[in-house]
Amino acid sequence: MKHPNTCVVGLQWGDEGKGRITDLLAPQFDLVVRYQGGGNAGHTIVEKDKFILHLVPSGILHPDIQCVIGNGVVVDPELLLQEIQELKSRGVSVAGRLFLSERAHLVFPFHKQLDALQESQGRKIGTTGRGIGPCYTDKIARLGIRVVDLYTPEHLETRLRQVVESKNRLLASYDQGPLDFAGILEAARTDAARLAPYVADTVKLLHEAIAGGKSVLFEGAQGSLLDVDLGTYPYVTSSNSTTCGIAAGLGIPPRSVQKVLGVVKAYTTRVGEGPFPTELANPEGDRIREKGKEYGATTGRPRRCGWFDAVAGRYAVMINGVDTLAITMLDVLGGFERIKICTEYRCGNERIRDFPADLSRLEACQPQYIELAGWSDAISQARQADEIPVQAKTFLDTVSSLLGAPIEIVSVGAHRDHVIHLKGS
Ligand code: IMP
Repeated sequence: MKHPNTCVVGLQWGDEGKGRITDLLAPQFDLVVRYQGGGNAGHTIVEKDKFILHLVPSGILHPDIQCVIGNGVVVDPELLLQEIQELKSRGVSVAGRLFLSERAHLVFPFHKQLDALQESQGRKIGTTGRGIGPCYTDKIARLGIRVVDLYTPEHLETRLRQVVESKNRLLASYDQGPLDFAGILEAARTDAARLAPYVADTVKLLHEAIAGGKSVLFEGAQGSLLDVDLGTYPYVTSSNSTTCGIAAGLGIPPRSVQKVLGVVKAYTTRVGEGPFPTELANPEGDRIREKGKEYGATTGRPRRCGWFDAVAGRYAVMINGVDTLAITMLDVLGGFERIKICTEYRCGNERIRDFPADLSRLEACQPQYIELAGWSDAISQARQADEIPVQAKTFLDTVSSLLGAPIEIVSVGAHRDHVIHLKGS
């Protein structure tokens, strides 16, 4: 029977382990598809070797799967070509399996330069520095350059000149000299030739695949609380990282998504600035960071760590339409005597059970916890439901009931096999 078209989406602030869940589920699908974000994503997969993918969908390590980078993704050609080269050098064939939307917008070096300038001289968001915000800004301002523009030389030159002139005005406001237009144009032409084998009409490709009964796995990047519309704005990324981004990011109708698998860590992490009610800025947080190796896959930055937040989790389950859950990194909590889960916030005398839109309110919220007994490190050996220690089982049941969704997958280690599939989901 055909597997339902499924989205794997992060329910926290990113880094939930979506890449490894996508890699695990990929063999059940014909296509794995990215619909938003760009090189800011860092999907870590540990097979024999460790792979960190930024732009190429996580299904690429399975030779029979087609991978699509949709129109909603912003693509840095240098990064994509580097990633393709790296995959090839490690024996992964990419030709004829990777399709890049001709409608995707391109990230240029000046987007990265502006990202860095805005971070150092404007409001600090704590971005990945991959040029994501400035590229999406150009897209919305109707200044952006798309993959397809690379293949109409005169059009490319005219459009690029307009963009470069506008960027020069902006750079001057930061006391920066003008861009080298000829160099940028030349690099774009070189990239055009090197990207050509992968460029496709991915809208048509996806419609034909779905109509032909193929099954699609939609791979979300970043996490729901970083969604530009629904996250902790302005401390968010510049795309719709929830399932809400799928239709626009791929040119397919929303009904194409038949199942949503929400991924959460057994605790919470966040990189960059912005409110984080359950943050542990103390030795307990440091312990989670060291055990979970919580350092950014894209930037190497230490991640802020804290307890599981069910208020944020319930909100993310609701906006994404989550059907089932995957809980990752359960082993990281092994060895803690007591484990906490935030069930609601308190703001003054008020109990808050709905995730606030107002950041000053969110910042003022105090997490209210329940405490559960911990479990031992031996959990990393568990491969079946009946091998999960009873205390960890209680933790999972509590998270499931607080979020209102059944748990389908639990991960207890970084390797592909370190997972437990739960029945009855
Ligand atoms: P940008 O997407 O690089 O503009 O960064 C905006 C915010 O999103 C910053 O707080 C980043 O740390 C965060 N962010 C972007 N991509 C990821 C990711 O893949 N994992 C976790 N956080 C991310």
